[in-house]
Amino acid sequence: MAMGLIEKGLVMIFLCTAFHVSTILGNVYKVGDDAGWTSVGNFDYHTWSSSKTFDVGDIIYFEYTPGDHNVIEVNHTDYRTCNQSRPVVTYTSGNDSITIKQRGHYYFICGIPGHCEEGQKVDIRVYPDSSTQPSKAAPSAPAPSKSNRVSTLSFMALLGKLSTVVVIFHGFTY
Ligand SMILES: *[C@@H]1O[C@H](CO)[C@@H](O)[C@H](O)[C@H]1NC(C)=O
Ligand SMILES: *[C@@H]1O[C@H](CO)[C@@H](O)[C@H](O)[C@H]1NC(C)=O
Ligand SMILES: *[C@@H]1O[C@H](CO)[C@@H](O)[C@H](O)[C@H]1NC(C)=O
Repeated sequence: MAMGLIEKGLVMIFLCTAFHVSTILGNVYKVGDDAGWTSVGNFDYHTWSSSKTFDVGDIIYFEYTPGDHNVIEVNHTDYRTCNQSRPVVTYTSGNDSITIKQRGHYYFICGIPGHCEEGQKVDIRVYPDSSTQPSKAAPSAPAPSKSNRVSTLSFMALLGKLSTVVVIFHGFTY
């Protein structure tokens, strides 16, 4: 009886761990960080995105009050001219998570009149191969390794997830 419960618990740990590991493979980037997605305050989204190293599997998260803003993916031409007449995809929830599925250069603008012109536009560049990405540091001072940063972040996230699993396990057996 007790063994059966423990075995079920172990299976549950395995399933939960497998599930959680699969959800922490990508980083989540909130556009604008604390500023969010806004036309107020002349936030420089290009500088924001240039400071990140995006990769396939990462999630780009736009947070805003629905109706006050939106997110329209456009091509480079329409990004430069703030033209929303040919949207690739339109998002309006205020909680828009976009998973990067392949490498490339992605362009998003706010479609509320005037907002893109005020600077509410962001380009997300996912380099063809992160090892060939131009270094932002001087040649004599190599940029910090992305893989170290990612593995540290993933490890921290994993610790958080595992504590959840342990709680579930205890709840299951006792
Ligand atoms: C954007 O789309 C328009 C219409 O299809 C096209 O004329 C323009 O060349 C495109 N721009 C880029 C950079 O692909
Ligand atoms: C946006 O693009 C469409 C399609 O090319 C064009 O008809 C329209 O004039 C453009 N609008 C602006 C404001 O440039
Ligand atoms: C986004 O989702 C969170 C959590 O589900 C919720 O609390 C928040 O109100 C949502 N925001 C918008 C703008 O829908």
